[in-house]
Amino acid sequence: MNKIFTFSTLRIKGSHRSDRLSFSYTRLYLGSEQSVFAKSLRFVFKFNPKTNRMKFFIDTANLDDIREAYDLGILDGVTTNPSLMAKEGISGDANVKAHYKAICDIVDNNVSAEVISTDFAGMVAEGKELAKIDDKIVVKVPMIREGIKAIKHFTNEGIRTNCTLVFSAGQALLAAKAGASYVSPFIGRLDDIAFDGLDLIDQIVGIYENYGYGTEVLAASIRHTMHLIQCAEIGADVVTCPLKVITGLANHPLTDQGLAQFLADHAKVNG
Ligand code: E4P
Repeated sequence: MNKIFTFSTLRIKGSHRSDRLSFSYTRLYLGSEQSVFAKSLRFVFKFNPKTNRMKFFIDTANLDDIREAYDLGILDGVTTNPSLMAKEGISGDANVKAHYKAICDIVDNNVSAEVISTDFAGMVAEGKELAKIDDKIVVKVPMIREGIKAIKHFTNEGIRTNCTLVFSAGQALLAAKAGASYVSPFIGRLDDIAFDGLDLIDQIVGIYENYGYGTEVLAASIRHTMHLIQCAEIGADVVTCPLKVITGLANHPLTDQGLAQFLADHAKVNG
């Protein structure tokens, strides 16, 4: 016989960034063969919504895609990584720097350029070179111990950083402590291994709100439009995603049908 356990909690959080009332409701089903199923619902009521607006970054090194997103008028920045640069066939120090410059020339701000070094001195040297390319550059540093030190160093130097490859709340806390401008939790890659990436975004947003950390939560590894919308519901500061996810937000069959009808009706009386 199945047993049902129900837990509910009410918590109120307050901070200078936003106030939120959360209601968490968790139900555990214990199956007859000792299997456990958990269902969780979360309601969040924000009394004082964030005053900043969600930023849209495009996650690519493809110049055509960046131009297309920028032309929409809603793009706030670009994130790249070594895999995305390799996908565009960009190699060699001079070409890599020239490509970052080309990206900076398209967009208004926030171009994340990732270091390749994994030791403190190497990351610092590389990051300084990247930062010299353009004021729009944000130095992207991996979440490793040497990376934390490098982020702290860049923070002291006034160089903006994006702490990447973040997969836990503890890592995000370290990034914020080091003064990272952005922290990039990877939603899709967590989902790929059966962990809920959106839960991590929610957890980090809550932790940062508890203490008023200035680090912005940059939801990365976004695979589809629902990821993006759910990030907006949770209150992520930034989303970075491929062009098709951004443009996918505009699609709705009723919009297409409605527009076709409007145009047909207009043509009937206007010839
Ligand atoms: C973030 O900055 C990364 O470049 C990116 O979002 C990773 O996404 P992926 O998991 O789809 O490669």
